Amino acid sequence: MNIRPRRLRKSPIVREMVAETRLSKDMFVYPYFVVPGNNVTHAIDAMPGISHFSADTLVRDVEHSLKLGLNKVLLFGVGEEKSEDASTSYNSESVVSKAVRELKSAFGNDLFVITDVCTCAYTTHGHCGIMHDDYVNNDETVEVLAKMALSHAQAGADMVAPSDMMDGRIAGIRSLLDANNLLNTGIMSYSVKFASAYYGPFREAADSAPNKGDRKAYQMDFRNPGESLREAFLDEEEGADILMVKPALAYLDIIKSLKENTNLPVACYNVSGEYSMVKAAARAGWVDEQKVTMENMYAFTRAGANIIITYHAKEILEKGWMV
Ligand code: PBG
Ligand code: ZN
Repeated sequence: MNIRPRRLRKSPIVREMVAETRLSKDMFVYPYFVVPGNNVTHAIDAMPGISHFSADTLVRDVEHSLKLGLNKVLLFGVGEEKSEDASTSYNSESVVSKAVRELKSAFGNDLFVITDVCTCAYTTHGHCGIMHDDYVNNDETVEVLAKMALSHAQAGADMVAPSDMMDGRIAGIRSLLDANNLLNTGIMSYSVKFASAYYGPFREAADSAPNKGDRKAYQMDFRNPGESLREAFLDEEEGADILMVKPALAYLDIIKSLKENTNLPVACYNVSGEYSMVKAAARAGWVDEQKVTMENMYAFTRAGANIIITYHAKEILEKGWMV
């Protein structure tokens, strides 16, 4: 036997030298849920370790995140007044716009602020758009999303991230931003977003579950890898800056094929259900949390993700799990 692959696994140093995949904290984006009020820090039951914050407590928590080297956040608004037309979503005084202003005034360019753009936390029925006869009207929804994106951008968001899956929303958002001279506000598109049961804990956190029906008439069918490239290419043509695949863990094949087929950066969203499954199994003592978490992070990296949106990010850095 002259070929022995185990030679390169003999010691930590040689294993480190030949590692084919590297993970960096610069790849992480950390999601935050923002609620109205003051001095609120409210733990979310279904997502151990994750809380609702009001703008003031958010600023303090982000300060801590920044010290850990976590400098990109994704904001979700929760607890606004709901309506049929989702009008609170694009109010300049919305919880998200207020939080963006406070974060940018506290941290400026030391923090990159991305906002989720979708109506489901702002509509009475909980769907990701404007409904007529139990169907989400595409083009009317795009207009609302563009106004929502504009309000976040005017508040100072560095990037907006539409998560609705309407057709043409990247073009709609881009043209309204450009018309308002917000040429450098980026768009990270939830391009390939599947109708998934892995969003369960998030819907509790964001109080955004549809009260009737499901999201299959707009989110994608998980049997369709070809359609995922089609969706991603449309967003690329419409002016998206970053393409995202969501969920991540059950969709590594999609991340890989998207990475091989685009020159845009590829993000993946390690969603709430994926996070809470790890937390639950770790609490039960069935898996080693650090090891399983890091194995998942490397799976995303190996598949080709450039950016990882994950609820694990803060704990990974707090506990020094990277090494
Ligand atoms: C809302 C939205 C969802 C997530 C991000 N934005 C839920 C959904 O589409 O039902 C999921 C995030 C997660 O599960 O962590 N459009
Ligand atoms: Zn939504």
